[in-house]
Amino acid sequence: MSIYTNQLQAHCDRFEALLPAYMPATGGLQTVVAEAMAYACADGGKRIRPVLTLEFCRLCGGAPEAAMPAAAAIEMIHSYSLVHDDLPCMDNSLLRRGKPSTHAVYGETMALLAGDGLLNLAFETILSPKNRGSLTADGVLGAASALADAAGIDGMVGGQVIDLDSEGKNIDLATLEALQRGKTAALLIAACVMGARLAGATPEQEQAARTFGEGIGLSFQIIDDILDVTASAEKLGKPVGSDAENEKTTYVSLLGLEAARRLAAQRTAEAVAALSVFGHEVDSLRQLAEALLNRDH
Ligand code: IPE
Ligand code: IPE
Ligand code: MG
Ligand code: MG
Ligand code: MG
Repeated sequence: MSIYTNQLQAHCDRFEALLPAYMPATGGLQTVVAEAMAYACADGGKRIRPVLTLEFCRLCGGAPEAAMPAAAAIEMIHSYSLVHDDLPCMDNSLLRRGKPSTHAVYGETMALLAGDGLLNLAFETILSPKNRGSLTADGVLGAASALADAAGIDGMVGGQVIDLDSEGKNIDLATLEALQRGKTAALLIAACVMGARLAGATPEQEQAARTFGEGIGLSFQIIDDILDVTASAEKLGKPVGSDAENEKTTYVSLLGLEAARRLAAQRTAEAVAALSVFGHEVDSLRQLAEALLNRDH
């Protein structure tokens, strides 16, 4: 079953159709890395982050098409984070989105460089004057700044640092939350805030977007931890049992399945409550938050 209502599925379909156009050209001396970058971003992912960017832009009064470069940018950074996350020096995983991981196809060196290339391409895409369209310079800069903050040491990279540094150690709940806030919630928050900023949202709307992203972001990683224990690799498109194998502390290992699920539900409820600022028209986002809580992949 799809996690998206018709309205969000339309964003997702449009994104899927337009993403290839943002990928680097092949044919020159960099063909291999360009192919690895496209492979890393190819279909198979749920596309949650770009869909959130497009929908928050719409919800705050902007045109979703105008947010397409920003949507592509955040999916590039997310995809790069997965390429590096799967490397032998990190989670050592050979399966991603139902296919061999990027390094399994292109080798570790090209996977490393494809990740680096995608990180840069994200900012080239969002900041390029030719992708500016009807957006204001303030909107574009605000969105790029949110993405840069979320991707770096105070966000995704920082979370991955705590994650890797904590393998084989006992960490407490506060450290685990900081880890997951960084590695996962930061980019989901940025996805929502970027859409809001591109549309020239009010401070109240931007804060609601941030709170929604935080709630679904924290919930999202708890469910990811649960699925690593309860789902099948076939359904997930990535290996299961990987957290135990890598001696990670997760919400499941700290609290058990039941309490982890309760906490995820609480975070989702906090996310949904934040949507009240927008009045009507938030059914799709509410349903997405609930579908992500109950997802099986
Ligand atoms: C996987 O993210 C990595 C986490 C942050 C848990 P997703 O579950 O969004 O991965 P795709 O994009 O659908 O493959
Ligand atoms: C990865 O968390 C988060 C990032 C890539 C930033 P996980 O290591 O739990 O993600 P999966 O389970 O491999 O998708
Ligand atoms: Mg990891
Ligand atoms: Mg992993
Ligand atoms: Mg995981």
